Amino acid sequence: MTRTPVNVTVTGAAGQIGYALLFRIASGHLLGPDVPVRLRLLEIPQAVKAAEGTAMELDDCAFPLLSGIDITDDAKTAFDGVNVALLVGARPRTKGMERGDLLEANGGIFKPQGEAINAGAADDVRVLVVGNPANTNALIAQQHAPDVPAERFTAMTRLDHNRALSQLAKKLGVSVTDIKKLTIWGNHSATQYPDLFHAEVKGQNAAQAVNDQAWLENEFIPTVAKRGAAIIEARGASSAASAANAAIDHVHDWVNGTAEGDWVSMAIPSDGSYGVPEGLISSFPVTVTDGEYSIVQGLEIDEFSRARIDASVAELVEERDAVKALGLI
Ligand code: NAD
Ligand code: LMR
Repeated sequence: MTRTPVNVTVTGAAGQIGYALLFRIASGHLLGPDVPVRLRLLEIPQAVKAAEGTAMELDDCAFPLLSGIDITDDAKTAFDGVNVALLVGARPRTKGMERGDLLEANGGIFKPQGEAINAGAADDVRVLVVGNPANTNALIAQQHAPDVPAERFTAMTRLDHNRALSQLAKKLGVSVTDIKKLTIWGNHSATQYPDLFHAEVKGQNAAQAVNDQAWLENEFIPTVAKRGAAIIEARGASSAASAANAAIDHVHDWVNGTAEGDWVSMAIPSDGSYGVPEGLISSFPVTVTDGEYSIVQGLEIDEFSRARIDASVAELVEERDAVKALGLI
């Protein structure tokens, strides 16, 4: 059976995450082994040539599922008819740059991209923002796409989720597949809260299995929360292949569903659950059925977790207020 290709737009396609991501999309890891894709690469004019080089390499792989590649520096063209939008390109923080400058520079990217998605995206569009500050960039894009259902705009905390899985598996000497129901709450930043109190390891509560509050508090949480900085320190560049892998996981599960008896972490617009102000794009435990995600309800949040969730959410409120003050939303 010939299926209509799914239009997947990747921004920042010539960057390092783009390079790790595009080949996996084209080989069927994003949507499935029987789903053809058409890639749309959006870059700034100076990087279009490099994106063309990546496209040549994609051609050279002769991927059976890749039905075509378009390269453009025009957001309207890039998002016309898009089904899956991966917003990776962003303005990185450079020396001497204040937080406000960073938010403003990214507003200049995510506002027009939100408008272009609003103007041309397919009805079923799903948006994942990877470019930092991811949660607030997603909020900016979403606020400029009033005709797209708000819940279609998400940001990535799956890398944090995967990092937490690996750290816990190492500590307990188990496989990552033995761990279920782990949650990242809040912002994709150092304030995020990786929660083991609801996670399970071979059916046992993970915090109890660890039975080491000092490790949980002084090693596990900071290691996961500061892993991005540790990678930059070690590699001299921010995480790329692991970030691309997490983007694949995020969209794959959003489209194809989460496993029975498990959940994943996604930063999504809050509906007010767990005291997170409505509308903030914050990470929650979610399950996905028939392509629609829902927040896992009814988890008991103890004082330890509450304080950490609240701190990360407070940072998101600050970011939202800052972009509001800049007139970006
Ligand atoms: P990179 O600098 O290698 O690539 C970014 C690319 O984006 C560049 O090619 C640049 O030309 C392009 N770009 C800039 N503005 C653009 C625009 N307006 N439209 C289209 N393209 C544009 O960076 P990278 O390592 O690929 O990382 C990309 C982003 O992802 C960064 O913001 C990084 O901090 C973030 N990141 C997020 C996570 C996460 O877990 N959410 C993890 C790792 C990295
Ligand atoms: C990561 O978590 O690896 C990145 O968000 C780090 C960064 O600042 O790009």
